[in-house]
Amino acid sequence: MTVVLSTISAARQWMRTERSAGKTIGLVPTMGALHEGHLSLFRQARQRCDCVIASIFVNPLQFGPTEDYDHYPRNLDHDMTLAEQEKLNAIFHPEAREMYPQPPQITVSPGRFGELLCGVSRPGHFQGVATVVAKLFNILQPNVAFFGQKDAQQAIIVQRMAQDLNFPVAIEICPIVREPDGLAMSSRNQYLNAADRVRATVLYQALRRAERLIRSGVRDAIQVEREMQEVIATTPGVELDYARVVDRQSLQDVSEVTGEVLLAVAARFGRTRLIDNMIVVPEG
Ligand code: PAJ
Repeated sequence: MTVVLSTISAARQWMRTERSAGKTIGLVPTMGALHEGHLSLFRQARQRCDCVIASIFVNPLQFGPTEDYDHYPRNLDHDMTLAEQEKLNAIFHPEAREMYPQPPQITVSPGRFGELLCGVSRPGHFQGVATVVAKLFNILQPNVAFFGQKDAQQAIIVQRMAQDLNFPVAIEICPIVREPDGLAMSSRNQYLNAADRVRATVLYQALRRAERLIRSGVRDAIQVEREMQEVIATTPGVELDYARVVDRQSLQDVSEVTGEVLLAVAARFGRTRLIDNMIVVPEG
């Protein structure tokens, strides 16, 4: 049975009971509308920890004023069925007023990491993410927390936050789960109409093209970026946000592909903004 905890005090009580029984706690933070990407994190958590809790909370703080907070898919019944199937021990599902009884004044700044890549078109987004993740860590005090490589910038920011602010939690980053045609799974894929769903595979195609170029010996990052931009921007009905080659750790631009790089792309399909990425290690 998966317990549903909707208040912070109930969640803390649950956590204390598990901890005093000597169990390790794995946390998977989510915004719900669960799909195979989320389930892969649950399975990883099950393997590593004695008990697993997922949070399902659509965090208002990480949505901009013109973004999809009100329309973000919410389906707790469906999520609970999957949580039970995956044998999660608990779900933390608070209301927004439980998490934010008053507008927060003290928040977590992601520093320059919040201003790169997605931070350009989503100002304040990563501050909202870092703040809610810090709150979840404080409320649930997990031993290990699991995040997806799908949101590469978010994963780096959470890792740095745990290091810089000394959260006693290990951060595990799990691989991207894709649809058979390569589209990275995302709760926002539900928004796509049939035509945009087909177009959306262009993100993965651009990443694959860039990967092939690097593997074939191309080291000029600008050239690789141009190829990715071309693949995306020449698809009708797709609006490119960015296609970049950055250092895997610092997320800063590189001019030459010498070490491990992160290929990162973002584009709009109608009103739906999707992101994807790939880590590439040049050979030789
Ligand atoms: P959400 O988009 O629900 O994602 C929850 C977790 O699942 C994130 O760590 C995300 O990277 C991971 N994930 C999503 N799609 C994935 C895929 N295709 N493959 C592997 N992992 C995938 O990310 C958030 O929620 C929020 O920002 C949150 C961290 C919960 C803070 O509010």
